[in-house]
Amino acid sequence: MMSFLSAALLICLATNKALGATYSQTDSHVGSGFLSAFSFEAIPDPTHGRVNYVGSATAASENLTFASGDHFVLRADFKKVLSSSGPGRDSVRLKSNKQYRTSVTVFNVRHMPQGCGTWPALWTVGANWPNQGEIDILEGVNDQGPNAATLHTNAGCTMPSSRSQTGTSTGNNCDVAVTNNAGCGVKFSDSRSYGPSFNQNGGGWYAMERTDNLIKVWFWSRSASNVPSDVKNGATSVNTDNWGTPVAYFPDTSCPIGTKFGAHNIIINLTFCGDWAGNVYGSSGCPSTCVDYVNKNPSAFTNAYFDFQWLKIYG
Ligand SMILES: *[C@@H]1O[C@H](CO)[C@@H](O)[C@H](O)[C@H]1NC(C)=O
Ligand SMILES: *[C@@H]1O[C@H](CO)[C@@H](O)[C@H](O)[C@H]1NC(C)=O
Repeated sequence: MMSFLSAALLICLATNKALGATYSQTDSHVGSGFLSAFSFEAIPDPTHGRVNYVGSATAASENLTFASGDHFVLRADFKKVLSSSGPGRDSVRLKSNKQYRTSVTVFNVRHMPQGCGTWPALWTVGANWPNQGEIDILEGVNDQGPNAATLHTNAGCTMPSSRSQTGTSTGNNCDVAVTNNAGCGVKFSDSRSYGPSFNQNGGGWYAMERTDNLIKVWFWSRSASNVPSDVKNGATSVNTDNWGTPVAYFPDTSCPIGTKFGAHNIIINLTFCGDWAGNVYGSSGCPSTCVDYVNKNPSAFTNAYFDFQWLKIYG
Protein backbone atom coordinates (compact mmCIF):
# COMPACT_ATOMS: atom_id res chain seq x y z
CA MET A 1 0.00 0.00 0.00
CA MET A 2 2.72 2.46 1.00
CA SER A 3 4.77 1.73 -2.07
CA PHE A 4 1.69 2.12 -4.25
CA LEU A 5 1.08 5.54 -2.67
CA SER A 6 4.66 6.71 -3.11
CA ALA A 7 4.65 5.51 -6.70
CA ALA A 8 1.44 7.44 -7.31
CA LEU A 9 3.00 10.50 -5.66
CA LEU A 10 6.09 10.21 -7.85
CA ILE A 11 3.99 9.95 -11.00
CA CYS A 12 2.05 12.97 -9.83
CA LEU A 13 5.22 15.01 -9.30
CA ALA A 14 6.66 13.87 -12.62
CA THR A 15 3.45 14.84 -14.42
CA ASN A 16 3.46 18.23 -12.78
CA LYS A 17 7.03 18.77 -13.92
CA ALA A 18 6.12 17.69 -17.44
CA LEU A 19 3.43 20.36 -17.51
CA GLY A 20 6.26 22.82 -17.13
CA ALA A 21 4.91 24.84 -14.24
CA THR A 22 8.37 25.04 -12.64
CA TYR A 23 11.05 26.93 -14.53
CA SER A 24 14.71 27.72 -13.78
CA GLN A 25 16.33 31.09 -14.37
CA THR A 26 18.30 31.27 -17.64
CA ASP A 27 18.90 35.05 -17.83
CA SER A 28 18.95 37.93 -15.38
CA HIS A 29 19.41 41.47 -16.68
CA VAL A 30 20.08 44.29 -14.23
CA GLY A 31 21.38 47.84 -14.84
CA SER A 32 24.09 47.88 -17.53
CA GLY A 33 23.38 44.18 -18.14
CA PHE A 34 20.50 45.30 -20.37
CA LEU A 35 23.00 46.92 -22.73
CA SER A 36 24.86 43.67 -23.35
CA ALA A 37 21.70 41.56 -23.69
CA PHE A 38 19.89 43.84 -26.15
CA SER A 39 20.73 45.51 -29.47
CA PHE A 40 19.59 48.92 -30.65
CA GLU A 41 17.31 48.93 -33.66
CA ALA A 42 17.68 52.27 -35.44
CA ILE A 43 14.93 51.44 -37.95
CA PRO A 44 12.00 53.35 -39.43
CA ASP A 45 8.89 52.76 -37.31
CA PRO A 46 6.75 50.14 -39.10
CA THR A 47 3.72 51.71 -37.41
CA HIS A 48 4.47 55.19 -38.83
CA GLY A 49 5.17 56.89 -35.52
CA ARG A 50 6.54 60.40 -35.03
CA VAL A 51 9.76 58.83 -33.82
CA ASN A 52 13.44 58.67 -34.71
CA TYR A 53 14.94 55.46 -33.31
CA VAL A 54 18.63 56.11 -32.57
CA GLY A 55 21.64 53.80 -32.25
CA SER A 56 23.63 53.09 -29.12
CA ALA A 57 26.13 55.96 -29.48
CA THR A 58 23.44 58.62 -29.86
CA ALA A 59 21.37 57.04 -27.10
CA ALA A 60 24.35 57.22 -24.75
CA SER A 61 25.34 60.78 -25.69
CA GLU A 62 21.74 62.03 -25.34
CA ASN A 63 21.29 60.00 -22.14
CA LEU A 64 18.34 58.14 -23.67
CA THR A 65 19.70 54.96 -22.14
CA PHE A 66 21.21 55.15 -18.68
CA ALA A 67 22.35 52.39 -16.33
CA SER A 68 23.33 52.67 -12.68
CA GLY A 69 23.07 50.01 -9.98
CA ASP A 70 19.73 48.30 -10.45
CA HIS A 71 18.32 51.04 -12.65
CA PHE A 72 18.11 50.71 -16.40
CA VAL A 73 16.42 53.77 -17.90
CA LEU A 74 15.23 53.97 -21.50
CA ARG A 75 13.65 57.24 -22.58
CA ALA A 76 12.71 59.54 -25.41
CA ASP A 77 14.28 62.95 -25.90
CA PHE A 78 12.57 65.67 -23.82
CA LYS A 79 14.72 68.62 -24.85
CA LYS A 80 14.34 69.32 -28.56
CA VAL A 81 11.66 71.29 -30.38
CA LEU A 82 11.25 69.47 -33.70
CA SER A 83 10.86 70.89 -37.17
CA SER A 84 7.70 69.54 -38.81
CA SER A 85 9.72 68.70 -41.94
CA GLY A 86 12.45 66.85 -40.01
CA PRO A 87 12.57 63.43 -38.32
CA GLY A 88 10.47 62.56 -35.26
CA ARG A 89 11.39 62.56 -31.59
CA ASP A 90 14.54 60.62 -30.69
CA SER A 91 13.73 57.40 -28.89
CA VAL A 92 15.00 53.84 -28.45
CA ARG A 93 13.92 50.42 -29.63
CA LEU A 94 15.77 47.46 -28.12
CA LYS A 95 15.72 43.84 -29.25
CA SER A 96 17.03 40.95 -27.14
CA ASN A 97 20.01 39.14 -28.62
CA LYS A 98 18.60 35.81 -27.49
CA GLN A 99 15.41 34.16 -28.69
CA TYR A 100 12.95 32.17 -26.62
CA ARG A 101 10.20 29.63 -27.06
CA THR A 102 9.00 27.79 -23.93
CA SER A 103 9.87 30.26 -21.19
CA VAL A 104 8.67 32.61 -18.50
CA THR A 105 9.65 36.29 -18.81
CA VAL A 106 9.30 38.56 -15.77
CA PHE A 107 9.78 42.34 -15.97
CA ASN A 108 10.23 44.29 -12.74
CA VAL A 109 9.36 47.84 -13.81
CA ARG A 110 9.48 50.94 -11.57
CA HIS A 111 8.23 53.42 -14.12
CA MET A 112 6.80 53.33 -17.63
CA PRO A 113 6.58 56.10 -20.26
CA GLN A 114 3.70 58.51 -19.86
CA GLY A 115 2.46 61.54 -21.77
CA CYS A 116 0.02 62.38 -24.54
CA GLY A 117 1.15 60.81 -27.81
CA THR A 118 3.27 58.08 -26.17
CA TRP A 119 2.95 54.46 -27.33
CA PRO A 120 5.24 52.26 -25.23
CA ALA A 121 5.41 48.47 -25.50
CA LEU A 122 7.02 45.39 -23.98
CA TRP A 123 6.47 42.55 -26.40
CA THR A 124 7.97 39.54 -28.21
CA VAL A 125 8.07 38.76 -31.91
CA GLY A 126 9.71 36.36 -34.39
CA ALA A 127 11.75 37.11 -37.50
CA ASN A 128 8.92 36.57 -39.98
CA TRP A 129 5.87 38.59 -38.92
CA PRO A 130 3.06 37.57 -38.66
CA ASN A 131 3.96 33.96 -39.45
CA GLN A 132 5.90 33.51 -36.21
CA GLY A 133 3.41 35.49 -34.17
CA GLU A 134 3.58 38.47 -31.85
CA ILE A 135 2.86 38.61 -28.12
CA ASP A 136 2.17 42.07 -26.67
CA ILE A 137 2.64 41.98 -22.90
CA LEU A 138 2.41 45.67 -22.00
CA GLU A 139 1.09 48.14 -24.50
CA GLY A 140 -1.06 51.23 -24.68
CA VAL A 141 -1.34 54.81 -25.93
CA ASN A 142 -1.89 58.36 -24.68
CA ASP A 143 -1.90 57.37 -20.97
CA GLN A 144 -5.14 55.46 -21.48
CA GLY A 145 -5.13 52.47 -19.14
CA PRO A 146 -5.65 49.79 -18.23
CA ASN A 147 -3.22 47.57 -20.10
CA ALA A 148 -4.15 45.13 -22.87
CA ALA A 149 -2.23 41.93 -23.71
CA THR A 150 -2.64 40.83 -27.32
CA LEU A 151 -1.64 38.07 -29.72
CA HIS A 152 -1.14 38.64 -33.45
CA THR A 153 -0.86 35.65 -35.81
CA ASN A 154 -1.49 34.49 -39.35
CA ALA A 155 -4.72 32.68 -40.29
CA GLY A 156 -6.06 29.85 -38.12
CA CYS A 157 -5.76 31.04 -34.54
CA THR A 158 -8.84 31.93 -32.51
CA MET A 159 -9.57 32.03 -28.79
CA PRO A 160 -12.56 30.55 -26.94
CA SER A 161 -14.90 33.31 -25.80
CA SER A 162 -15.07 31.82 -22.31
CA ARG A 163 -11.80 30.97 -20.56
CA SER A 164 -10.07 31.14 -17.21
CA GLN A 165 -8.74 34.70 -17.00
CA THR A 166 -9.44 37.83 -14.94
CA GLY A 167 -9.26 40.20 -17.94
CA THR A 168 -11.90 40.81 -20.63
CA SER A 169 -11.43 39.71 -24.23
CA THR A 170 -11.72 42.49 -26.80
CA GLY A 171 -11.51 40.15 -29.79
CA ASN A 172 -11.05 36.42 -30.27
CA ASN A 173 -9.58 36.13 -33.76
CA CYS A 174 -5.79 36.55 -33.59
CA ASP A 175 -5.36 36.66 -37.40
CA VAL A 176 -3.98 40.09 -38.32
CA ALA A 177 -5.65 39.91 -41.75
CA VAL A 178 -9.13 39.49 -40.29
CA THR A 179 -8.89 42.10 -37.54
CA ASN A 180 -7.07 44.86 -39.40
CA ASN A 181 -4.13 43.94 -37.13
CA ALA A 182 -6.08 44.39 -33.90
CA GLY A 183 -5.28 40.79 -32.93
CA CYS A 184 -6.95 38.96 -30.03
CA GLY A 185 -6.65 41.26 -27.04
CA VAL A 186 -7.44 40.99 -23.35
CA LYS A 187 -8.14 44.16 -21.40
CA PHE A 188 -6.93 44.19 -17.80
CA SER A 189 -9.24 45.17 -14.95
CA ASP A 190 -6.52 46.65 -12.69
CA SER A 191 -6.16 50.37 -13.45
CA ARG A 192 -2.68 50.27 -11.91
CA SER A 193 -1.51 48.20 -14.91
CA TYR A 194 -0.80 51.17 -17.17
CA GLY A 195 0.43 54.76 -17.43
CA PRO A 196 0.20 57.41 -14.69
CA SER A 197 -1.59 55.03 -12.32
CA PHE A 198 1.07 52.35 -12.83
CA ASN A 199 3.73 54.94 -11.98
CA GLN A 200 1.91 56.41 -8.97
CA ASN A 201 1.85 52.92 -7.46
CA GLY A 202 5.57 52.36 -7.99
CA GLY A 203 5.13 50.20 -11.08
CA GLY A 204 5.09 46.46 -10.65
CA TRP A 205 5.73 43.10 -12.26
CA TYR A 206 4.64 41.82 -15.66
CA ALA A 207 5.05 38.10 -16.36
CA MET A 208 4.43 36.06 -19.50
CA GLU A 209 4.48 32.26 -19.64
CA ARG A 210 4.72 30.59 -23.00
CA THR A 211 4.69 26.88 -23.93
CA ASP A 212 3.63 25.06 -27.09
CA ASN A 213 0.15 24.76 -25.55
CA LEU A 214 -0.60 28.09 -23.89
CA ILE A 215 0.32 31.72 -23.34
CA LYS A 216 -0.49 33.45 -20.05
CA VAL A 217 0.11 37.01 -18.84
CA TRP A 218 0.01 38.26 -15.22
CA PHE A 219 0.41 41.67 -13.64
CA TRP A 220 0.99 42.64 -10.00
CA SER A 221 1.18 46.25 -8.95
CA ARG A 222 3.98 47.20 -6.52
CA SER A 223 1.17 48.11 -4.14
CA ALA A 224 -0.64 44.77 -4.52
CA SER A 225 -0.77 42.42 -1.55
CA ASN A 226 -0.80 39.17 -3.57
CA VAL A 227 2.57 39.29 -5.37
CA PRO A 228 3.96 35.72 -5.43
CA SER A 229 7.22 35.58 -3.48
CA ASP A 230 9.20 34.03 -6.37
CA VAL A 231 8.15 36.96 -8.58
CA LYS A 232 8.79 39.60 -5.94
CA ASN A 233 12.22 38.25 -5.08
CA GLY A 234 13.32 37.42 -8.62
CA ALA A 235 13.92 33.87 -7.38
CA THR A 236 16.21 31.49 -9.27
CA SER A 237 13.20 29.31 -10.06
CA VAL A 238 9.51 30.12 -10.42
CA ASN A 239 6.35 28.04 -10.29
CA THR A 240 3.56 29.55 -12.37
CA ASP A 241 1.05 27.12 -10.82
CA ASN A 242 1.21 29.26 -7.69
CA TRP A 243 0.47 32.55 -9.43
CA GLY A 244 -3.30 32.33 -9.54
CA THR A 245 -5.61 32.93 -12.49
CA PRO A 246 -3.76 34.90 -15.18
CA VAL A 247 -5.10 38.23 -16.42
CA ALA A 248 -4.87 36.94 -19.98
CA TYR A 249 -5.08 33.26 -20.92
CA PHE A 250 -4.57 32.07 -24.49
CA PRO A 251 -5.10 28.27 -24.73
CA ASP A 252 -4.51 26.04 -27.76
CA THR A 253 -8.17 24.97 -28.05
CA SER A 254 -8.46 26.41 -31.55
CA CYS A 255 -4.98 27.81 -32.07
CA PRO A 256 -1.91 25.57 -32.53
CA ILE A 257 0.27 27.79 -30.31
CA GLY A 258 3.37 25.68 -30.99
CA THR A 259 3.25 26.38 -34.73
CA LYS A 260 1.75 29.90 -34.72
CA PHE A 261 4.54 31.20 -32.46
CA GLY A 262 8.18 30.72 -33.42
CA ALA A 263 11.38 31.67 -31.62
CA HIS A 264 10.84 35.20 -30.30
CA ASN A 265 13.03 38.15 -29.42
CA ILE A 266 11.97 40.46 -26.60
CA ILE A 267 11.37 44.03 -27.78
CA ILE A 268 11.24 47.20 -25.68
CA ASN A 269 10.05 50.22 -27.65
CA LEU A 270 8.63 53.69 -27.25
CA THR A 271 7.09 55.43 -30.22
CA PHE A 272 4.76 58.42 -30.65
CA CYS A 273 1.51 58.91 -32.57
CA GLY A 274 1.46 56.55 -35.59
CA ASP A 275 -1.13 53.93 -36.47
CA TRP A 276 -2.57 53.58 -32.97
CA ALA A 277 -1.65 56.49 -30.68
CA GLY A 278 -2.16 58.96 -33.55
CA ASN A 279 -5.47 57.54 -34.69
CA VAL A 280 -7.16 57.69 -31.29
CA TYR A 281 -5.35 60.83 -30.09
CA GLY A 282 -8.41 63.08 -30.50
CA SER A 283 -10.54 60.87 -28.27
CA SER A 284 -7.89 60.56 -25.54
CA GLY A 285 -8.42 63.98 -24.00
CA CYS A 286 -5.05 65.19 -25.29
CA PRO A 287 -4.37 68.73 -26.59
CA SER A 288 -3.71 69.87 -30.17
CA THR A 289 -2.93 67.21 -32.78
CA CYS A 290 -0.59 64.34 -31.96
CA VAL A 291 2.26 65.19 -34.32
CA ASP A 292 2.12 68.90 -33.49
CA TYR A 293 2.12 68.19 -29.77
CA VAL A 294 5.09 65.84 -30.04
CA ASN A 295 7.02 68.29 -32.24
CA LYS A 296 6.52 71.38 -30.12
CA ASN A 297 6.39 70.29 -26.48
CA PRO A 298 9.60 68.52 -25.44
CA SER A 299 8.96 69.11 -21.73
CA ALA A 300 5.74 67.10 -22.02
CA PHE A 301 7.99 64.02 -22.38
CA THR A 302 9.99 64.42 -19.17
CA ASN A 303 8.20 61.32 -17.87
CA ALA A 304 8.34 59.36 -21.12
CA TYR A 305 10.73 56.75 -19.76
CA PHE A 306 11.00 53.15 -18.58
CA ASP A 307 12.96 52.42 -15.41
CA PHE A 308 13.59 48.68 -15.07
CA GLN A 309 14.71 47.09 -11.82
CA TRP A 310 15.38 43.83 -13.60
CA LEU A 311 14.28 41.43 -16.31
CA LYS A 312 14.54 37.71 -15.64
CA ILE A 313 13.86 34.85 -18.00
CA TYR A 314 13.17 31.26 -16.98
CA GLY A 315 13.18 28.10 -19.05
C1 LIG B 1 6.31 49.25 -31.05
O1 LIG B 1 5.55 48.31 -30.39
C2 LIG B 1 4.35 47.86 -30.92
C3 LIG B 1 4.03 46.65 -30.08
O2 LIG B 1 2.83 46.31 -30.04
C4 LIG B 1 4.43 47.47 -32.38
O3 LIG B 1 3.16 47.18 -32.90
C5 LIG B 1 5.08 48.55 -33.14
O4 LIG B 1 5.30 48.11 -34.45
C6 LIG B 1 6.37 48.94 -32.51
N1 LIG B 1 6.91 50.01 -33.24
C7 LIG B 1 8.17 50.00 -33.50
C8 LIG B 1 8.65 50.98 -34.44
O5 LIG B 1 8.97 49.29 -33.00
C1 LIG C 1 20.74 60.69 -17.30
O1 LIG C 1 19.54 60.05 -16.93
C2 LIG C 1 19.50 59.60 -15.60
C3 LIG C 1 18.23 58.80 -15.42
O2 LIG C 1 17.11 59.50 -15.82
C4 LIG C 1 19.62 60.77 -14.65
O3 LIG C 1 19.59 60.31 -13.33
C5 LIG C 1 20.92 61.50 -14.95
O4 LIG C 1 21.01 62.65 -14.12
C6 LIG C 1 20.99 61.88 -16.40
N1 LIG C 1 22.30 62.43 -16.70
C7 LIG C 1 22.45 63.61 -17.29
C8 LIG C 1 23.84 64.04 -17.55
O5 LIG C 1 21.52 64.31 -17.61
